[in-house]
Amino acid sequence: MLEQDIERVLFTEQELKDRVAEIAAQIDKDYAGKEPMLISVLRGSFIFMADLVRSITLPCTVDFMAVSSYGSGTTSSGQVKITKDLSESIEGRDIIVVEDILDSGNTLSYLFQLLQARHPASVRLCTLLDKPSRRTKAVTADYTGFTVDDLFVVGYGLDYAEKYRNLPYIGILKPAVYEKG
Ligand code: IMP
Ligand code: MG
Repeated sequence: MLEQDIERVLFTEQELKDRVAEIAAQIDKDYAGKEPMLISVLRGSFIFMADLVRSITLPCTVDFMAVSSYGSGTTSSGQVKITKDLSESIEGRDIIVVEDILDSGNTLSYLFQLLQARHPASVRLCTLLDKPSRRTKAVTADYTGFTVDDLFVVGYGLDYAEKYRNLPYIGILKPAVYEKG
């Protein structure tokens, strides 16, 4: 059972739901009269994205991009690679990049520059979690769900070695899980 590998729950299903609804309400307000395009950074943000768009009441479109910057470990390799690009043009669009967690900042600073070069009307960053203590690139999110300490978290889309994404809450893994690899 996945549950047995979790040391502590950080954010319950209800806490996530409430915070996601607050972010969606803020987006509704900020983009009133516009039609933003939400770009989910796969795979970690797929659950957050699905819940977020269902709480947004404005017309909006979605697209997906996949990047890899991590191996199967718990620290970034620093190299960002696009493994799946967008399907749509973003020229003239109001873009909201949806991420699971802003850690070193490598992924979002790279994506931000890449997207800006495609001439969108605007680009904002929305991250469910922020770990500011680990930042090596100057990136700040426009929308942040929760700020977390320097702990490796899983669930609600976030993985360790591709597992635990399906937990409905966010929790901290037991160190024994990485020790056994
Ligand atoms: P950054 O490029 O270092 O900011 O890393 C961002 C990516 O690293 C996120 O999109 C996650 O996929 C992954 N990541 C960073 N910290 C964690 C964590 O605590 N749990 C799971 N994935 C993480
Ligand atoms: Mg990710």
